[in-house]
Amino acid sequence: MNHPDTASYAPHRPSAGRRNALKMAGGLGVTLAGGACSVGGTLSAPMAGSSTAGAAVQTLVSAPASVRLVPDSRGPTPVWSYGGTVPGTRLDVRQGAAIAIDFRNELPDPSTIHWHGIRLPNAMDGVPYLTQPPVDPGGRFRYAFAPPDAGTYWYHPHLGTPEQVGRGLYGALIVHEADPPAVDRDLLWLIDDWRLDGNAAIVEDFYNWSDVAFDGRIGNTVTVNGMEHHAEPVRRGERIRLRLVNTANARMVSLAFGEHPVWLMALDGHPLPRPQRVTSDQDVFLGPGQRADLIIDMTGPAGESFAVMDRLYRHRAYPVATLEYGQAGALRPTTVLAARGAPAPLVPNELPEPALADARRVRIVMDGGMMRGPHVPWTTRAARRLRRLAGERIADPAWSLNGRAHLGHGPDHPFEFVADQGETVHIAFENRSTKWHPMHLHGHAFRELTRNGRPVPMQPWHDTTMVAPGETLEVAFVADNPGDWLIHCHILEHHAGGMGTQFRVAA
Ligand code: C2O
Ligand code: CU
Repeated sequence: MNHPDTASYAPHRPSAGRRNALKMAGGLGVTLAGGACSVGGTLSAPMAGSSTAGAAVQTLVSAPASVRLVPDSRGPTPVWSYGGTVPGTRLDVRQGAAIAIDFRNELPDPSTIHWHGIRLPNAMDGVPYLTQPPVDPGGRFRYAFAPPDAGTYWYHPHLGTPEQVGRGLYGALIVHEADPPAVDRDLLWLIDDWRLDGNAAIVEDFYNWSDVAFDGRIGNTVTVNGMEHHAEPVRRGERIRLRLVNTANARMVSLAFGEHPVWLMALDGHPLPRPQRVTSDQDVFLGPGQRADLIIDMTGPAGESFAVMDRLYRHRAYPVATLEYGQAGALRPTTVLAARGAPAPLVPNELPEPALADARRVRIVMDGGMMRGPHVPWTTRAARRLRRLAGERIADPAWSLNGRAHLGHGPDHPFEFVADQGETVHIAFENRSTKWHPMHLHGHAFRELTRNGRPVPMQPWHDTTMVAPGETLEVAFVADNPGDWLIHCHILEHHAGGMGTQFRVAA
């Protein structure tokens, strides 16, 4: 087994500068205009009535592969992938249309596929033991559903997740709206973080205690679309849509686009009611699992290359990718682009509006980490460490939700709450730990309502939301999708270390 050269890491240390960056990005610099924006409003029950019969079946094979992640002389890197590439096979479907995926598992380990952010029937959610049995090596499973919401989504395994995602298993699922925005091109960046050794091989120290109990598996190599130092060819005068997905196990990114006019159009697939201008002193912040759709005007000069920086830690900013302006003349004069101004909002998805007055109220207290984790005797930890060295892949309990570290899921595991179908659920996430946590809800999208009691600008829809240390975040959603669902931290090592629970929506 390889051991990481810790000196080569870019370890993340919380700093005042970082907190500020996150606050600014989280607040989006928007002032709240009056009441909640209403979109949809009718309970469309998109999951129940949708027929998936007749969809063309796509085969998706998960298997070991070898890919080039770094542009230098190291590598290639042995990975696990969907379809032989990293990112895995890109899936595209029209909003409301059926998609059927014949999943074949050719990994040495059992696996499943979870369709992150998609509101789909419970049996298609890909959570082992809770919604389906694991798909054993050599086995297959047919996933079929009709995504009710347009937007940028992704898929990944939900079994042995820290390792399987850490080895490269993920792909994009793009759900196309009937009325796409007026842009010249539609681009997709899947941002990932890898822990590679001197030969560009993956360091196989999954589930180690310091990752589980601190910041998760932060790596040393950031890729966009499976390549470090990704170069994106662009042309002066273009207006592009850029879909961003953070597929990293644990790394948060805070992307800066310099003087380019940038608008935030959608978060986690769901359009903002008004495009949000991201100014040059602001960043686009993405925690693990989160997505953002941007519209960017390419206003740089021909022949220039421009670095898109991750400046989560301002004193440790590094380029995530470069925009490479070709030598070609401008597609149109940038004055014409500037005169267009802000793009029109994307067409909203039809989501049921929470009825807060008679909501079921749930409090989820998040705690743990190295300093405050549930007490585990050192003998137990030593024994686990030995078993891990012997090949067992399981994390120690380090994190808790409402006082319980959840090391597994299943119908026999206690449910955090049971909601009636159609009931509004109001959740207060209370983060008593010293770390940020991207909290993810399966099967539904929720509105962000308040942070520490202050209304969140535009109250955006999310399926994954960052909760800051010490923060209380209130969200609400209509529990309209019957079945058993997870709520968990999307820092995959935190989830493995206990930070995930389940709830039931009664049929
Ligand atoms: Cu993207 Cu439960 O996960
Ligand atoms: Cu977490």
